[in-house]
Amino acid sequence: MERTLAILKPDSIEKKIHGKVIQHIIDAGFEIKGMQLLRLTEDSAKKFYEVHKERPFFNDLVAYMTSGPVIPMCLEKPNAVAEFRKLIGATNPANAEEGTIRKLYAESVERNIVHGSDSPENAAKEIAHFFKDSDLV
Ligand code: RTP
Ligand code: MG
Repeated sequence: MERTLAILKPDSIEKKIHGKVIQHIIDAGFEIKGMQLLRLTEDSAKKFYEVHKERPFFNDLVAYMTSGPVIPMCLEKPNAVAEFRKLIGATNPANAEEGTIRKLYAESVERNIVHGSDSPENAAKEIAHFFKDSDLV
């Protein structure tokens, strides 16, 4: 078993499709081990996306991720990190495969509905950003 960290981003809640996205995740065989609804502070968003702090889109990314509530989820499945990246599709929905969550619902490279960890090492750090071990079922 492996775990990954997903975040349903503010645009998914704004568009009222967060329920649908969760259903996709369940239908794809992921088990939800932890889930929260919260609003990221600026400091927390900056820390979460620290790897991107030198990128030109960093300030826009932080503004977007703090623009409304988000739903972080700890998900479990064999090969969860790679499997979840496959389910969500490419960062830019224009390049995402048919049937992926971003292809179905995302409007742009920035407002792309969902986050997924990019490696098991980062997944562990990202899960710890939101959840204590004792919070997970
Ligand atoms: P994520 O971390 O959110 O799962 O997305 P990702 O791995 O597919 O993409 P990443 O390169 O980590 O970028 C993180 C988020 O930053 C926004 N972004 N904007 N304007 C741009 O060119 C641009 N590039 C990335 C997106 O919200 C992306 O998901
Ligand atoms: Mg990423």
